[in-house]
Amino acid sequence: MLEHRVLFDDRRIAERVQALSAEIHADLPTARPVVIGLLTGSYVFMADLLRAAAGLGVEPLVDFMALSHYGGGHRARGEAKILKDVNVNIRGQAVLLVDDILDSGTTLLRARDHLLRQEPSWLHSCVFLDKPWRRIVDIRADYVGFVIPDVWVIGYGLDYAGEGRALPYVAAIELARPCAKREG
Ligand code: IMP
Ligand code: MG
Repeated sequence: MLEHRVLFDDRRIAERVQALSAEIHADLPTARPVVIGLLTGSYVFMADLLRAAAGLGVEPLVDFMALSHYGGGHRARGEAKILKDVNVNIRGQAVLLVDDILDSGTTLLRARDHLLRQEPSWLHSCVFLDKPWRRIVDIRADYVGFVIPDVWVIGYGLDYAGEGRALPYVAAIELARPCAKREG
């Protein structure tokens, strides 16, 4: 396993996810939203968020999208390309878009604009982590679990070259090149 330093342990994460789901629940216009996760990193956060929301009476439809970046080595400047679209029809539906982490912002921006074109009645976005200093496009999430500095994190669904996703906590790793980007 990569050398890493724990930032948020499982208890801290559970508390924050519980609070976030209450915050989202208070805003949701319906108990039956369509919740759309961005693969792959969002899967752990989304599972916990939805189980917390289930305790508040939310019965979502669940779907996923997958995006990747154009541009090979220039990925931070690249545009995100849609590799997998949603299967459900979201026209007139309340949609919650979920991702693991908001970094340059290109992924969430691309996904949100794509979904908005399908005319949902309501669309809010929720990210588990936010690195606001890394933004290269103008976007912010409606709900944020934790704001973190410019470090590469693994665990709780987040990976580095495929490693670390299943860790039950979030940890920072040292990169040779700060924040070289990964897919998914
Ligand atoms: P963005 O398009 O630059 O905002 O990138 C967002 C995507 O990059 C996220 O969905 C993650 O998959 C990935 N990502 C960005 N920062 C990290 C990190 O620190 N750890 C793991 N994945 C990350
Ligand atoms: Mg991702």
